[in-house]
Amino acid sequence: MDEQRRRRYLEAMGIQVWEPRAGAQPGRKVTASETPRPAAEAPDAEAPVASLSWVELRARVAACTRCTLHQTRTQTVFGVGDPNARLMVIGEAPGADEDRAGEPFVGRAGQLLNAMLEAIGLAREQVYIANIVKCRPPGNRDPHADEAAACQPYLQRQIALLAPEVILAVGRVSAHNLLGTEEAVGRLRGRTHRFDPGDIPLIVTYHPAYLLRRPQDKAKAWQDLQAVYRLLHAESPEAG
Ligand code: URA
Repeated sequence: MDEQRRRRYLEAMGIQVWEPRAGAQPGRKVTASETPRPAAEAPDAEAPVASLSWVELRARVAACTRCTLHQTRTQTVFGVGDPNARLMVIGEAPGADEDRAGEPFVGRAGQLLNAMLEAIGLAREQVYIANIVKCRPPGNRDPHADEAAACQPYLQRQIALLAPEVILAVGRVSAHNLLGTEEAVGRLRGRTHRFDPGDIPLIVTYHPAYLLRRPQDKAKAWQDLQAVYRLLHAESPEAG
């Protein structure tokens, strides 16, 4: 793995990359004044979100108190996956399982999402998964507009850092926030949208939790996944 790629993986996993100091010699004892320093300076709490690295962004999110959801969360749920992923999956908000685990889509809906991805040849580890909001809304209610707005810069930065080739918006809350519309998912699916900034192709599909309640719509979700596959393989972008 090349050095740049290795660094991106480590950064996305929240691991600080340490630099040897200039002039360091292998085997030479390091004196107290020479103790290693992080490559980056200590994160600047005032730095704009749009300028943050993966590590800084993760730390900023973990400390976030921009909306009241921080009062009831166990922990923030930042996102997970390959920082070089070509596909970014964006859900709604962490549920109880995710709040406990600190990882998106780990419950039953997550298992179905994994199966949906596997169906187009993608392991969960090969994509990047995030949510519109990073903290669990109490009682699994939909996130309020002000909560989604407070979290928006974090998701925008994740998208900018990842620069995915395709975005898959799962569910109404995700589609509405990403596309700035209130149209029903049933009307948004079946075509390729564009996410701005970045002009990134975006496909809308049903939320896996909804599909667990309405398995008869899985065939439509399969069409949506096939549209994602075609976009990733540069075939005709139209959903079936
Ligand atoms: N539903 C979501 O939208 N996101 C999760 O992380 C879990 C369930």
